[in-house]
Amino acid sequence: MKLLIFVVVITLSKANKTPRVSPGYDCDYCQPEQIHISFGSKTNDIVVTWTTFNDTQESRVQYGVGVMDQEAVGSSTVFTDGGRRKRNMWIHRVLLKDLNFNTKYVYHAGSVYGWSEQLSFKTPPQGEDWVVRAAVYGDMGSKNAHSLSYLQDEAERGHFDLILHVGDFAYDMDTDDALVGDEFMRQIQPLAAGLPYMTCPGNHESKYNFSNYRNRFSMPGDSESMFYSFDLGPVHFVSISTEFYYFLNYGFKMVANQFYWLEEDLRKANEPENRQDIL
Ligand SMILES: [Fe+2]
Repeated sequence: MKLLIFVVVITLSKANKTPRVSPGYDCDYCQPEQIHISFGSKTNDIVVTWTTFNDTQESRVQYGVGVMDQEAVGSSTVFTDGGRRKRNMWIHRVLLKDLNFNTKYVYHAGSVYGWSEQLSFKTPPQGEDWVVRAAVYGDMGSKNAHSLSYLQDEAERGHFDLILHVGDFAYDMDTDDALVGDEFMRQIQPLAAGLPYMTCPGNHESKYNFSNYRNRFSMPGDSESMFYSFDLGPVHFVSISTEFYYFLNYGFKMVANQFYWLEEDLRKANEPENRQDIL
């Protein structure tokens, strides 16, 4: 009996360390796709987000400087699109915490059922004494995405520190039972897997209470990417949604939540210790 208890304890402690899929589990469509990254609560935390079409039972990112000698484990949530087919997809999120600043990392994302190709990103410099280079745009569709090739070209030459896509994605992400959203997220992967793809919602994301937008992106904070802020170099970025005011059919609560959040966020950002470099 003692031996049996001992064996059970060992098995449990192993399972806690590194979650692994159950033996015999079969996964039909578990290749990761639509991989993109974003800043976490600070800019040396990077969140990797991707999609699979079955439950892989685990979400892992293997990463490192030069070689992938570290691993982070995250989780997935099932997103059911609101269209007629009620398509399911699993959205995986893994946080890579406390990375070195100004450092190139290689990584791949996935599970034992399939890994992405090896991808890479460079973390931003530390501190405030540097110039932030952002590509800022809204309104990019899946069809006729003429800007995409130029953006990818510039991004791969290291000309941007981040992307800000300020609303209106894919036209629209929910179209054709969200197949258009899938295609769009695949199209932006060469950009978005290599540098933080920071977003805010536009009117084209409004279907099913912005559910494609909320589920597919992972912005900092706990507002399901609808509003948030972060500091990068000398800049305090604030993202708020003006759509709450147009889509009151989804409730007034978010208008109030965002308003009080913004007031507090700006108050904090204006504290003397956060404005050292501003004359
Ligand atoms: Fe627009």
